[in-house]
Amino acid sequence: PPRIAVLASGRGSNLAALIAARDAGTLPVEFALVASDKADAGALRLAEAAGIPTLALSPKAYPDRRAYDLDLLDRVAASGAELLVLAGFMRVIDAEALRPWVGRVINIHPSLLPKYRGLHTHRRALEAGDAEHGVSVHFVTAELDGGPVIAQARLTIEAGDDEQRLAERLLPLEHRLLPAVLGLLASGRLQWRDDGAHYAGQPLSAPLLL
Ligand code: GAR
Repeated sequence: PPRIAVLASGRGSNLAALIAARDAGTLPVEFALVASDKADAGALRLAEAAGIPTLALSPKAYPDRRAYDLDLLDRVAASGAELLVLAGFMRVIDAEALRPWVGRVINIHPSLLPKYRGLHTHRRALEAGDAEHGVSVHFVTAELDGGPVIAQARLTIEAGDDEQRLAERLLPLEHRLLPAVLGLLASGRLQWRDDGAHYAGQPLSAPLLL
């Protein structure tokens, strides 16, 4: 099975969903590394408990973002990982560091991209009066939350939703979507070619709805 690395800055519920899918036999991957920019990230504790090698790397020890990202991705490569998943990694990766990895990195973002790149996506969807909200998984490029969208899952915004409730209601969709997309990538059905996403040999003209 393909070896994967996961970068996560926080709690790690999406990482937990990947590990659960692997354990259930529905996601044939091998975890080479879980790395974080935060030594106290829940994701690192989850990985340790699952017997996955971990790395906590603080950006503070580096002169600039590029130096950090180059070292981080060197270490990811040294782990033997072929694919990289950003699961709540709250940093933008430098373009030069990313270049050798383009097409092999996916990110989960809690909005219906191209809406609401960046932070506070739930609040912004509510403030805009949107009828729907959702989550996207996309190929990572140097542009913040701007790479080709692979798949989305949607929900209807309800009268009782506030930022926190909406985030909570979205989470189960995230936990379904990320393992599903990683499974497609790991199996080769989903590929990066000619600067874009291809599914089953065809250019992906619209996001898959999972
Ligand atoms: C998730 O909601 C993920 O979509 C979001 O951070 C959360 C991480 O939760 N990602 C971003 O906002 C990326 N810009 P988790 O640590 O429990 O997986």
